[in-house]
Amino acid sequence: MQLLEVKDLKKGFGSKAFNTRIEVLKGINLEIKRGELVALMGPSGCGKSTLLNIIGGLLPGDEGEIELEDVNHISNKFTYGTKSPNKVVNVRRNGVGWIFQDFHLVEHLTAIDNVAMALEIAGMEQNDAEEKANSALTKVGLGDRINFGAEQLSGGQRQRVAVARAIAGSRPLLLADEPTGNLDAESGNDIMKLFKILTKGENPISVLMVTHDPNLASQADRMLLMKDGVVAASDIKSAWGIKDEEEEE
Ligand SMILES: Nc1ncnc2c1ncn2[C@@H]1O[C@H](COP(=O)(O)OP(=O)(O)O)[C@@H](O)[C@H]1O
Ligand SMILES: [Mg+2]
Repeated sequence: MQLLEVKDLKKGFGSKAFNTRIEVLKGINLEIKRGELVALMGPSGCGKSTLLNIIGGLLPGDEGEIELEDVNHISNKFTYGTKSPNKVVNVRRNGVGWIFQDFHLVEHLTAIDNVAMALEIAGMEQNDAEEKANSALTKVGLGDRINFGAEQLSGGQRQRVAVARAIAGSRPLLLADEPTGNLDAESGNDIMKLFKILTKGENPISVLMVTHDPNLASQADRMLLMKDGVVAASDIKSAWGIKDEEEEE
């Protein structure tokens, strides 16, 4: 089985009766394997965030189905897609971690407290949470900054704290909605490198990331292009005129 399967997912907003209805997702099909780093591209307003919100259990779709493997084996898999968010608590707690463009850190807490707090809210005991937070921060290269306040960190470092927070709970799928949108090119590249490390090796996670940057997208294992309410596995490299490294010689 794939880690994630999205089948014929549909979602619209507004009301037909008032002529305000827009169909945003018109039958999304996609699959992500364990350890895959997938870039999702598409014009502004095409529904990328809507899709991530439904996969992340924050918003119900209108039709279709999502299956997410439960890697921690609390159940076999999570099946949802049209269920209301209060019925998919397990997806949010054990299935997906989130990264946002503007980091969403608590500014006056330290790096380690930002990460540990998320674990404690999920029910973990304080010592365990701090230990897990410490090891997640070490993994993202911030082992020497754990006691820095969030406001003392650079944008790139803040985003790495957010990545640590997202991976600390051992969730198998990381949803990243324009994670490099507020970063300079170098910090953006660092985040991409970090995603590559986290999706390879032992106990790999999978990452679905929205980006507008074709150079970052071309470093992913696979790129998907969303357009007119559907997703196409796409050879965006050629569409954007990017050459493969091998071809450049
Ligand atoms: N809660 C909502 N109510 C009404 N319309 C929405 C809502 N959320 C998103 N939309 C609309 O759905 C479309 C897709 O939005 P979004 O998923 O944010 O696109 P993207 O992330 O690709 O820029 C847009 O036209 C947006 O205005
Ligand atoms: Mg968006």
